[in-house]
Amino acid sequence: MLDTLSRSELLRTQNFIAGRWQAASGEELLDVVDPATLDVIARVADSTAADAQAAVDAAQAAFPAWRECSGRERAQLLKRWHALIVQNQDDLARIISAEQGKPLAEARGEVLYGASYVEWFAEEATRTHGDIIPEPVRGKKLMAVKEPVGVVAAITPWNFPLAMIARKIAPALAAGCTVVAKPAEDTPLTAAALVRLAEEAGFPAGTVNLVCASRQQTPEVVDVWLADSRVRKITFTGSTPVGKHLARQSAGTLKKLSLELGGNAPFIVFEDANLDAAVEGLMVSKFRNGGQTCVCPNRVFVHAAVHDRFVDKLAARVGALHVGPASDERSQIGPMINERAVDKIDRHVRDAVEQGAKVVVGGRKLASPQVAGAGHYYAPTVLVQAGPTMALAQEETFGPVVPVFRFTAEDEVVALANDTPFGLAAYFYTQDPARIWRIADQLETGIVGINEGALAAEAAPFGGVKESGYGREGSRHGLEDYMHIKYLCQGGLR
Ligand code: SIN
Repeated sequence: MLDTLSRSELLRTQNFIAGRWQAASGEELLDVVDPATLDVIARVADSTAADAQAAVDAAQAAFPAWRECSGRERAQLLKRWHALIVQNQDDLARIISAEQGKPLAEARGEVLYGASYVEWFAEEATRTHGDIIPEPVRGKKLMAVKEPVGVVAAITPWNFPLAMIARKIAPALAAGCTVVAKPAEDTPLTAAALVRLAEEAGFPAGTVNLVCASRQQTPEVVDVWLADSRVRKITFTGSTPVGKHLARQSAGTLKKLSLELGGNAPFIVFEDANLDAAVEGLMVSKFRNGGQTCVCPNRVFVHAAVHDRFVDKLAARVGALHVGPASDERSQIGPMINERAVDKIDRHVRDAVEQGAKVVVGGRKLASPQVAGAGHYYAPTVLVQAGPTMALAQEETFGPVVPVFRFTAEDEVVALANDTPFGLAAYFYTQDPARIWRIADQLETGIVGINEGALAAEAAPFGGVKESGYGREGSRHGLEDYMHIKYLCQGGLR
């Protein structure tokens, strides 16, 4: 797929530090694998502590001039970057599909989704308003102004290799911060292409730095950033255990943190729901990126009165999904990212079946020749008679598996939905307006979909509560997370 790029210079395999593409300081290279074929498609810099350090030096050196730029100047560069991302959407989508596996149409959607954050924060860059505070005593003027926090370390996941890094770098730059970024080891090429376009847009040297690292080298790189007091903020999307590690390790220098961590989203279908709309919403939210999305429903609770009808409709839709490589235009579900991912999904399904769940559709790994290529595929699956002690009720499955739980009472289902340490997203379907407000109030999550499965938008605050983390991405709140407030008090005015 990469041999059909119209601009082959978007394919970068080196780090980008201080405005220069450069090899890592060590000897090692990191293999990038196409999850559909298991072919190595590129070999990328595998960085060391020295590279991580050089990136912080560059970001720190660039910070004073960047923070001095006006919001409008920063906005102009972000707008240019946005335009370049949109212009190069086909190439970017090919790179995403090649290293991450999502079907091409979905990858194109991700490019535009990521670009929408860049555009949004370009616009917000000119609106970092503070407050004028009515003085409590005469003769003083009180003000609160917002300032960029400084150097930001962005550590990003593989599931949305463009959108997640865009929605961290864009607000950081808009706020006047400079960035050191480390993409996931599975998907460094998309991040490098995006940074290449930032270079083309004209961001000053050192404002954006990219350091790639394998799973083995990642701790060495990230430890440098955690220990360095010049790094004032860490923004991370990924697992809760890693998020907790970052929080503990950044305590030494008291960095600001934004952590978008694991989820265990409930999806509740009440007896008065529009069932067709609920099935549609579940298909959209569950099967986006093959189920490899933090906000994907992980537990589907269906009222006993509509359970069988809902499952019949759902099974028909899920059974018709086309599984295959991104290169096949018919594919709706691509390969899972790697072997560990597909093994986890399989373990969850087996455990559920051992505990009494029944497979309605799917329930197995798919291998060639059923699917073209050697990749790690899992059949889209519906299970019924799921229960709370099953692994898939307690952990994020991160794959195309829908476990259906039956319930009979509103209080019972709210308690079940909240019975998890996680609190990222929740969804429910009902046509009762009073129930809408009651349930939205009681769900312990940062995001709630009400009769809606597609929640993500650049204008909305994305983030969780409980062990799903803190901080928000997107919306005006997403910009504030990269700024601190300075209080100014001027006296002697009378
Ligand atoms: C995620 O999976 O972390 C992000 C998904 C989204 O932006 O909707």
